Amino acid sequence: MTKVVHQLIRSSYVLVVLMAFAVLGYSGFSFYNLPIEERYFHADYAIFKPSGLLGHGLGIIGTLLILFGVFSYMARKRFHIFSRLGVLKYWLEFHIFLCSLGPVLILYHTSFKFGGIVSVSFWSLVAVVASGIIGRFIYLQIPHSIEGRELSWLEVQNIRDELNNELKAKYDINISEIKTGKSSEIVAGLKALNFSVSDFKNVKQLIMRQRLLTRKMARLDMMQNIFKYWHVAHLPFALVMLIVMLIHVVVVLTFGYKWIF
Ligand code: HEM
Ligand code: HEM
Repeated sequence: MTKVVHQLIRSSYVLVVLMAFAVLGYSGFSFYNLPIEERYFHADYAIFKPSGLLGHGLGIIGTLLILFGVFSYMARKRFHIFSRLGVLKYWLEFHIFLCSLGPVLILYHTSFKFGGIVSVSFWSLVAVVASGIIGRFIYLQIPHSIEGRELSWLEVQNIRDELNNELKAKYDINISEIKTGKSSEIVAGLKALNFSVSDFKNVKQLIMRQRLLTRKMARLDMMQNIFKYWHVAHLPFALVMLIVMLIHVVVVLTFGYKWIF
C-alpha cells in the first residue's frame, strides 16, 4: 500500500467515526435531550428508544462491528494461516476503527439511559475504549517491524547503527557530535554546512529519525513492561463487556424483542 493510500484510509476512519457521532446526535437530539419520563410522548419514540427501529438496529450493528473488530485482529495476530492477509499494523488500525465506531453506535443505542445490569457492559465498554487510547500511545513508543512485530533491543540498535553509518558515509556527519541540543539548534547548525536543498532535507530527516529512535531506546525496557501490564487491563474489560452483553442479548431475546426480523 502506498503511503498516500494508507493516509487516506486512516483519515477516512477518523472522519467516519466523527460523522457517525455528529449525524446520530444531530438527528436524535430532540429525543436524547428529553428527560426519560417524557420520551414516551416524543413523536419518534418508536424510532429512537433502545428497542426502536433505529435504537435496536444501532445496538445490533454496533455489537457486530465490535465483535468483528476484536476477533479479526486476534485471529490475524495469532493464526499463521491468516499471516498473508495484509500487514498486522493495518489490522490494528482496523481494530481501532471498528472498535471506536461500534461503541459510538452503542452509545446511541442506550439512548443515554444507563440502567440495569447491562450498564456494567456499557461502562466496561467505556473502560476498554479509554484503555485502548492509552494502549495506542504506549504501542507507538515501542519500535515495531513493518509486520507489526515488536523489535528486540538488538534490532533497534542495528537500525540506529545503520542510520549513523549513512550519515557518516554520505554526509560526513558524526552523530556523537550533535547528540544533544534542541531540534531547532540542530537545524540551524545544519544550515551552516551549506548542503544542497535535497541533501539538507535528507540529513535533517535522518538526524530526526536517529534522535527519535534514541529516545525510544532509552525507555524501551520500561515501555515494553508497561505494555505487558496494559494488556492485563484492556483484555479483562473487553471480556466483562462481552459476557454481560451476551447476558443482555439473551434477556432481550427471552423478552421477545425483535428488530426487523
Ligand atoms: C455492548 C453492547 C450493548 C450494550 C452496552 C447495550 C446497552 C443497553 C442499555 C444501557 C439499554 C437500556 C437499558 C434500560 O432501558 O435501562 C439497552 C436496551 C436494550 N438493548 Fe442493548 N446493549 C448492547 C447490545 C444490544 C444488542 C446486540 C441487542 C439486540 C440483540 C440489544 C437490544 C436491546 C433492547 C431490545 C433494549 C430495550 C430493552 C427494554 O426496553 O427493556 N442490545 N441496551
Ligand atoms: C469495544 C472496544 C474494544 C475492544 C472490545 C477491544 C478488545 C481488544 C482485545 C481483546 C485485544 C487483544 C488482542 C490480542 O492480544 O490478540 C485488543 C488489543 C489492542 N487494542 Fe483493543 N479493543 C477495543 C477498542 C480499542 C480502541 C478504541 C483502541 C485504541 C484507541 C484499542 C487499541 C488496542 C491496542 C493498541 C491493542 C494491542 C495490540 C497488540 O498488542 O498487538 N482498542 N483490543
